[in-house]
Amino acid sequence: MSNEWQNRDYAVDADRTYHERYFRENNLSAPGSWLAGPDEFVLRQARSLAKNSYVVDVGCGPGRHAIPIALYLKSLGGRVLCIDYLPIALERLSEAAEAAGVVDQIETQAIDVATTSLLAGSYDMCLAWSVWEATVPCADIAAKLVELQEAAKSGGGLNVIMFNTEMRRFDASSGVELDASSKLGNFNARDLLSLLRRLYEGWSAIRIETRDDEEFVADGNRTDRWTAKQVLFSARKP
Ligand SMILES: C[S@@+](CC[C@H](N)C(=O)[O-])C[C@H]1O[C@@H](n2cnc3c(N)ncnc32)[C@H](O)[C@@H]1O
Repeated sequence: MSNEWQNRDYAVDADRTYHERYFRENNLSAPGSWLAGPDEFVLRQARSLAKNSYVVDVGCGPGRHAIPIALYLKSLGGRVLCIDYLPIALERLSEAAEAAGVVDQIETQAIDVATTSLLAGSYDMCLAWSVWEATVPCADIAAKLVELQEAAKSGGGLNVIMFNTEMRRFDASSGVELDASSKLGNFNARDLLSLLRRLYEGWSAIRIETRDDEEFVADGNRTDRWTAKQVLFSARKP
């Protein structure tokens, strides 16, 4: 276990406080928020899922991916296990499932994925979209990726991952750079890409790409501008 775990309580507090407020103030259709819609990258992978598929969405939030995946799986007899450590995220997700008519396709679990393992060999698709960077120390990311690999079914199970790297925080009005150290470790995109290529040797890589991201986040009476290099990855298990 790395020394970064000593900073974890502080990082988790910051993450929970931010997301609790964000999910209270924004819903899945809030325009301008990052919850406004699913990422097309995720939906493209989900559309390859077959009959009776079982998906796990790790750090699901209020379900901007889980709900459309559940809708897609409804006629195929599939289900989505939605995991988040925030009760408010799962409450919002359950409301959205009700509104979308996919209650029977959704299961929820309130656990900390940093300290609890996923069931091995169980899922046709394991989605971890923007979750570990805030609450798992960099030095332990490889172990989490291996766990995600083990959770996928052999013979075609997918891992679909998005990871924010090189995160920087600025005061949006003055442009002054602020401390971004609440993000544990703050991975470098190149290091993460080489870790992914090494760990996923033998898997069929479907997509590996990076893109620049910018988010504006209200923090009291200041608005922060966060920038990140996002690493998007999907691969199929042999
Ligand atoms: C940036 S949001 C992304 C939500 C969702 N994946 C999406 O793309 O809309 C990160 C989510 O992961 C959850 N989360 C972060 N660390 C977690 C942990 N260690 N265990 C469980 N959930 C976690 C947060 O509560 C939040 O809902």
